[in-house]
Amino acid sequence: MDIYDAIKKRRDVRSWFSNEKIPDETISKILLAGHYAPSVGLSEPWNFIIIKDINTRKKIKELVDKKRSEFYNSLPEDKKEKFEKIKIEGIIESYANIAVTCDFNRKSPNILGRTFIKETSEYSTVLAIENMWLAARSENIGIGWVSFFNPEDVKKILNVPDEIKLVAYLTLGKLTEYHNKSELEEKHWEKRHNLSEYIFMDKWNNKPDDNFMNIIKNSML
Ligand SMILES: Cc1cc2nc3c(=O)[nH]c(=O)nc-3n(C[C@H](O)[C@H](O)[C@H](O)COP(=O)(O)O)c2cc1C
Repeated sequence: MDIYDAIKKRRDVRSWFSNEKIPDETISKILLAGHYAPSVGLSEPWNFIIIKDINTRKKIKELVDKKRSEFYNSLPEDKKEKFEKIKIEGIIESYANIAVTCDFNRKSPNILGRTFIKETSEYSTVLAIENMWLAARSENIGIGWVSFFNPEDVKKILNVPDEIKLVAYLTLGKLTEYHNKSELEEKHWEKRHNLSEYIFMDKWNNKPDDNFMNIIKNSML
């Protein structure tokens, strides 16, 4: 798959998972794509916990269901109606879950580039996740990112030490269907805006000239 194609067709998948086996070789390739990400000072702050155990997954799903209700209750009526139709996780239906963590002290002290911006460790971990997301797409495997929980509760279930940060909880499975739009767009929750709305030139709020803006508006992947 061409890189632009993978970027354009990457999806967050919750609704169309089959729990059909994913070969270990494929999981390994997706993880390796993550491991090839840039990392501040080559610190490789990530760990990947592959979770197949169904009881562990059920415990995590319980946490997510609670937070889903909390969020639902916080919504105004019109949003409640839309949210009811949206699936926010595929923890059980997917083939495996992967928790991605960040160790801020990996290969420290003297991590080149991290001294003044501590978050760079976390940024590195997130880059690994995007690599995994794109690699999965090219293997016709869906990934869903689940964040409806208190990370400390999930860490307890997975025995993650206090000093390690849980960055992402991912669900991974072969696809039964592919949709070319975000589920949030399909279900009228939120829209992708035109890139031109987010571009400034030289200084904050300074719009580029019309010529450049038109190029941006009309460019496609
Ligand atoms: C950091 C992060 C956390 C997310 N958490 C959730 C989540 O808890 N539940 C969910 O349904 N989607 C979650 N998503 C997926 C987004 O809703 C999704 O990326 C967005 O709607 C755009 O759709 P697309 O990824 O298919 O293009 C998360 C995405 C990111 C980057």
